[in-house]
Amino acid sequence: MDSEKDFIPNSPEAIAGAWDHLCHSYSDDLARASKRKGLAAIELAAIRLELGNRKGLRILDAGCGPGWHGIELALDGHQLVMSDLSPEMLEKTRAAAAAVNVQKPVVIRQEDIRNLPLETASLDAVVSCGTVVSDCGDADAALSEFSRLLKVNGLAMFSVRNLWDSLDSQTSNTDFDEMKHWIESGRRLIRQGHQAFDWLLFTAQGLRAACLDATMELQRVYPVGVVTPPEDDKDIPPYVQLHIDMPDHGPALARAHELFAVARKFRIEDICRPFQPKNQQIRGKPPGR
Ligand SMILES: C[S@@+](CC[C@H](N)C(=O)[O-])C[C@H]1O[C@@H](n2cnc3c(N)ncnc32)[C@H](O)[C@@H]1O
Repeated sequence: MDSEKDFIPNSPEAIAGAWDHLCHSYSDDLARASKRKGLAAIELAAIRLELGNRKGLRILDAGCGPGWHGIELALDGHQLVMSDLSPEMLEKTRAAAAAVNVQKPVVIRQEDIRNLPLETASLDAVVSCGTVVSDCGDADAALSEFSRLLKVNGLAMFSVRNLWDSLDSQTSNTDFDEMKHWIESGRRLIRQGHQAFDWLLFTAQGLRAACLDATMELQRVYPVGVVTPPEDDKDIPPYVQLHIDMPDHGPALARAHELFAVARKFRIEDICRPFQPKNQQIRGKPPGR
């Protein structure tokens, strides 16, 4: 993308162009303990914990980027669909998939996670790491797609940018009324992402509301990036454990860089049955008519 005039922010073209441009530096960060490697390891550990011993699940990696999480899950014996808008990222994913020996085929496709051509109720889980939901241009649309694709009780496991962390670093130049508004709504939209796409920031409460809107119940939130990532690979396991031990821990969630949500798909009929009095028939006209 040469200039801002060339794209409409949040359009598939703008997102794909921005991430094509960032692909190599992002992939390098994903390989470095002091950058994204430790954070990604926290996400994968949380996903593995939530999936337990189950194998052969049908899982979507939404906004898979270079494909690290999805390929690891394919190596665990799951069936993966991996979607992203960026052709460069998808090339990396294809190379990563080709380099390993997975039991089940991995499907890799260029798709927008706000509108996925996949069958309703066809997935056991959706994973979406690296704040894709925050940055995809329409978090509500993405969450409602995840919910549509999940079987009942299926899990959406995804990270978002943490509003508290951002408030903490920006309080000095923030107007109190504006800050109050962010806190009350639990979400704040800021134009970032190299101007090509917006970032949406969440509190844990805002995350719960967004999940409910999409008929998913937030089960747990793991903090991601509570302390600075380690310099060395050997320090990653204790760093991961520190985060995995603290789901729903208020002070940790307030300080975390990102929030990793585990949400369960429910059926609206299961919590909200129409009222039907037992053994009674309603006779006559309703009052007031
Ligand atoms: C920060 S990277 C995360 C990649 C990967 N999930 C990880 O954790 O390493 C964000 C990725 O999301 C993709 N993305 C952003 N918005 C998207 C959308 N609306 N549909 C599909 N992919 C999207 C980008 O192309 C990029 O590859």
